[in-house]
Amino acid sequence: MKSILCVSLLILLMPSAYAASLPGDSADGKRLYDANCMGCHDTSVFTRKDRLVQSLDALKKQLVSCSHMAEKEFSASEMQDLLKYLNDQFYDFR
Ligand code: HEC
Repeated sequence: MKSILCVSLLILLMPSAYAASLPGDSADGKRLYDANCMGCHDTSVFTRKDRLVQSLDALKKQLVSCSHMAEKEFSASEMQDLLKYLNDQFYDFR
């Protein structure tokens, strides 16, 4: 009983842990972005008025094509981290 209380308290104290709809690690995604993606554009492309990406699905597709352009092979979990970072920081799709 005590441990259940502890766990629910923990969850309450970490809103991001359950409010986050996507799996992955946003901080890791930022690190990956900074290391691999700044060659062609900075993060201002995500916030410009006429941005291309209008859905989570489109964001996934863009990530795939940009990682090809970047000539990077990201693992599935790295893709999740990037996706989470971009969505949490800029796009906010549900
Ligand atoms: C070889 C160049 C290049 C690299 C490296 C690159 N991108 Fe891109 N990216 C582009 C181009 C070109 C566009 C389209 C910009 C436009 O149409 O104005 C774009 C657009 C995007 C968009 C859509 C922005 C919008 O309008 O909503 C996302 C998201 C994105 N890139 C993510 C990434 C990520 C993540 C990485 C690193 C894995 C990355 N890009 C690396 C060239 C690149």
